[in-house]
Amino acid sequence: MWLPCGCTSKYVASSFARRTLASYLHVSGRSRCNVAAFMPEAAGLEGVSGRAALRELSVSNSESFWAAVARHRLCWSTPFHTVQDCDLSRGKIKWFEGGKLNVSVNCLDRHVHTCPERVALIWERDERGSEMKYTYGELLEMTCRLGNLLRRHGVKRGDCVTIYMPTCPLAVASMLACARIGAAHNVVFAGFSADALAERIRDGEMLLLIITVNQGVRGGKVTELKKTVDTAMQSCPTVKQVFVAMRTDNPVTMTARDIAMEEVREQKANQILEIQIQAVEDVVCEPAVMNSEDVLFLLYTSGSTGKPKGLVHTQAGYLLYAALTHRYVFSYHDGDVFGCVADIGWITGHSYVVYGPLANGATTVLFESTPIYPDPGRYWDMVERLKINQFYGAPTAIRLLLKYGDQWVNKYDRSTLKTLGSVGEPINTEAWEWYHRVVGDGRCPVVDTWWQTETGGICIAPRPSDPDAEIVPGMAMRPFFGINPVLMDTEGEVLTSNNTSGALCMAQPWPGMARTIHNNHQRFIDTYFQPYPGYFFTGDGAYRSEEGYYQITGRLDDVINVSGHRIGTAEIEDVVCPAVAESAVVGYTHSIKGQGVYAFVVLKKGIDVQEADLSRQLNGMVSEKIAKYASPDFIQFAKRLPKTRSGKIMRRVLRKVVESDLEGLGDLSTLDDPAAVQEIIQGHEKLLSKNRS
Ligand code: WTA
Repeated sequence: MWLPCGCTSKYVASSFARRTLASYLHVSGRSRCNVAAFMPEAAGLEGVSGRAALRELSVSNSESFWAAVARHRLCWSTPFHTVQDCDLSRGKIKWFEGGKLNVSVNCLDRHVHTCPERVALIWERDERGSEMKYTYGELLEMTCRLGNLLRRHGVKRGDCVTIYMPTCPLAVASMLACARIGAAHNVVFAGFSADALAERIRDGEMLLLIITVNQGVRGGKVTELKKTVDTAMQSCPTVKQVFVAMRTDNPVTMTARDIAMEEVREQKANQILEIQIQAVEDVVCEPAVMNSEDVLFLLYTSGSTGKPKGLVHTQAGYLLYAALTHRYVFSYHDGDVFGCVADIGWITGHSYVVYGPLANGATTVLFESTPIYPDPGRYWDMVERLKINQFYGAPTAIRLLLKYGDQWVNKYDRSTLKTLGSVGEPINTEAWEWYHRVVGDGRCPVVDTWWQTETGGICIAPRPSDPDAEIVPGMAMRPFFGINPVLMDTEGEVLTSNNTSGALCMAQPWPGMARTIHNNHQRFIDTYFQPYPGYFFTGDGAYRSEEGYYQITGRLDDVINVSGHRIGTAEIEDVVCPAVAESAVVGYTHSIKGQGVYAFVVLKKGIDVQEADLSRQLNGMVSEKIAKYASPDFIQFAKRLPKTRSGKIMRRVLRKVVESDLEGLGDLSTLDDPAAVQEIIQGHEKLLSKNRS
């Protein structure tokens, strides 16, 4: 079906895709009114006279809007016949049915066809100043070789491949290779422990293959990723093969299960410069023809129970939404260098390092390092060196860098920057102002983008809006095209007035939203659609200002956000230690990380241990079972926890205690034994003063 295209005969692209591409370019060239100039995809929509009208139409007539955008922004091998078939009350979400396409063709072949020499990836390696560039042609070749390698080792359409790798070109090629041959991928953040990796592998069915690297390198430190995979494998008997790529030059023990991924490498001064996937593989790899609603990937994220959920995203709707938000929220233009510093192990890495930018033919940066390695000027040195136009990062890093002072920023030329983005947690006004005034020299709009693994892409952000529309510090502000947010009161009624707060829900489906939880559609319904029937519940609270702008106020469930990494408090509580009778974990405000982890622990009767020793042991266990970032900052030992008469731990009370908000303790009359609260307060004060001294 996909035929070799004329100018680059070794690559493949569909003739249909080429036709669509031509019409895409044709429409781009048309400029009927300012809407068409701003959004060429919308040129054919009747009666839209300005951006506000376009936004309105995207909600009131969302089918026309999404149909027009999908036709023009994606290359289809068969056009879709139904724009959407959704019923939020049943958690049924389907977009663009009948349509067939291949995501890797959309991200690679069509750009290779028009500009094979354009740089697709800039790999900002941990070692400063050693960045490597890969053109679209090279990335397609890497993807095709890898796709063939996977196929030769038995990976079929509908299978699922786990990717446990740091952010690097081979990881991107692995994701795209899966997409090319119709397999789903399951990227597991390389900071997760062997246990967490094993849990995520076991939960998925048909997971037969893992791709990893010998070692990771981050902030000058080496991590033993292959060894972690070996440990995880002890409890994953279904995994038959592990592909191992070489990030460093240190050999690792290979077992019968392991397959070396590269054959030929160019080396210089002990650094591997050329990663080449088994040269025997052909550089042409026939793309699978996928249905719009086939699975593209699973991505595990934390919920309010101990078990992480594998959210499922599908092909067309996800790609379209990632591409459209990338283009319009950041005002990305052809030729820009897009620098999102997220790890590919999180949804931000999926949507704004890989799929959104590549679907738009952008040059995207793969950041392997940390904001302070080798010094706090790392980001801005990178901006100068790589001439980054859009920089997208997390508030936690901004807060950290702010403390090191302006000189680390001012040292570098940031004149290429046009837009600054923030994601993952609320950005406080001080950090926002610094980002805007110092990093952006007061001239770049700062977009505080609110979204989730579940939403697939940005849902609320200050842009797109009129170029001179106001941006309020620390507010996500405006819903994106097709997004219809509502606030709910405690009775489940929609709040219609402004200057009000409530539970943030979405009243309408959009193409980027997750389709289900892998192997557990009931949990999907219970979590997102049952709390407010007919609406998608985000789990966040929000405030709507007098002007109608949205500001996220934080999670309403037992999920906390540590340095922008989501973690369920129940996941930490589930780490079992024989000495512990029960525990309760809550988040508290942390000046750098946004939220820190505070654990209350009740020991079993008759246990005689030093608290300091047990704290160390518990911290070690959490790192080993989950990841380092989930390790408690504080562990308070208590005789008992405040509970309701039915035995439920009153986390609300614990949260108030750790925030030192004793005025806000509220009604304690439902407590089984109110004296428990006094003990908790005293214990907390003791722990704080011990920490201060
Ligand atoms: C939080 C990350 C305030 C929120 C893309 C959400 C934010 C959770 C913002 C999703 C923001 C994300 N302001 N809070 N701009 N962006 N959040 O799934 O609580 O890792 O529900 O996706 O992060 O985290 P996730």
